[in-house]
Amino acid sequence: MKNDLLTLKNEALKELETLAESADIEQLQQEYLGRKGRFTLLLKRIPELPKEERPAIGKLANQAKEELRKAFRAATDALTAKAEAEISVFDVTLPGRRPPLGHVHPITQTTEEICRIFVTLGFRVVQGPEVELDYYNFEALNMPKDHPARDMQDTFYVSDNVVLRTHTSPMQIRIMENQPPPVSIIAPGKAYRPDSDISHTPMFHQVEGLLVDQGVSFGDLKGTLTTFVHQMFGAYTDLRFRPSFFPFTEPSAEVDIRCVVCRGKGCRVCSHTGWLEILGSGMVDPELYRVVGYDPESISGFAFGMGVERIAMLKSGLDDIRLFFENDIRFLKQF
Ligand code: DAH
Repeated sequence: MKNDLLTLKNEALKELETLAESADIEQLQQEYLGRKGRFTLLLKRIPELPKEERPAIGKLANQAKEELRKAFRAATDALTAKAEAEISVFDVTLPGRRPPLGHVHPITQTTEEICRIFVTLGFRVVQGPEVELDYYNFEALNMPKDHPARDMQDTFYVSDNVVLRTHTSPMQIRIMENQPPPVSIIAPGKAYRPDSDISHTPMFHQVEGLLVDQGVSFGDLKGTLTTFVHQMFGAYTDLRFRPSFFPFTEPSAEVDIRCVVCRGKGCRVCSHTGWLEILGSGMVDPELYRVVGYDPESISGFAFGMGVERIAMLKSGLDDIRLFFENDIRFLKQF
C-alpha cells in the first residue's frame, strides 16, 4: 500500500510537469484527487488494512495528498503569473492617446469679445466681488431699502446686509470710491437672481461700463455704444435709444438693435416689434457722485450694463439660455 501511494504520487507529479494549460491541470487534479480519483480510491482501501498499519499509512496518505494539492496550486499560479506578464508587455511604438483638448466656453468667448471692443476704445477691465454688500448693490445706487426698483432685482440673501449681486453696477461705486475722475472702466462678471426659465438662469453674466470725466455728454454715450453695436453685430446694424428708467442714471435709455433674425420685419424672437433690447444705459445720476465724494458740478459721465448671455444668444440664434450651463459637450463643441 505504501509503495502504491508513493508511485501514484510520483506519477501525478510527473504528469503535471508536462502540462501548460490550466484546464489540463484541473482535469489532472480531478483524475487523482477528485471524488472518484485514483488517489481517493486508494485511500478508501485503508480500512481494509490490518489495524496496526492504518495510522502510519493514514499519515503518509495525508502528507502525499497535501503535497499533490500544493503542486497543483503552484502550477496554476505559475501559469497565471506568466499570462499576466505577457499582457503587460506593450508596444512602445504605438502612438500615444491624446487627452481631449477643450476650448473657451461660449459665454467667456462673448465676454472677451465685448471687453476687447471696449479696450480698444480706452476702457480698462476691472473685476469685483460676486458676494456683495447690500450697500453697493442697492443703497449706493439710489435704491434705498423700500425702493420699488428692488422688486425687479430680487436676490439671494447671504445675510440682511450681504447679497449675491444682482447686477455688475455695484462696480461703478467701488471704482469711483477708489479713484478720482477721470474713470473709464468695464467690469465683466457673474450676477445672480432667483429666476429660472427659457430666458433666465439664476446665475448669469453682465458687462458693466462707466465713463466719468469733465464735459461728458449723452452724445458720447451714443457714440460709444453705437461703435460697440457696429463692431459686435456688424457695421450696418441699426440701433435706437429708447427712454427708460434706472435709479442710478438720469436720463436713462435702453438700447435696441434691429432684429438680427427678421431684419426688422417682425418675428417671434423680437415679439413682432422688429427690435431687440440689448442693454441699459444712461447719464450717471449726480446722486452717485455725492455718495462717492465726487463734485457733481464739475464732472459728468455715462454708464451702461448688458447681459452677456443675451448677446451670445442673439449672435448665435439660440432660443434657450439654459443650454449654456448644461455642460453638454455636443452643444459646447459648436462654438
Ligand atoms: N444694472 C442694470 C440691470 O442689471 C443694467 C444697467 C442699466 C446698467 C443702466 C447701467 C445703466 O450701468 O446705466 O438691469
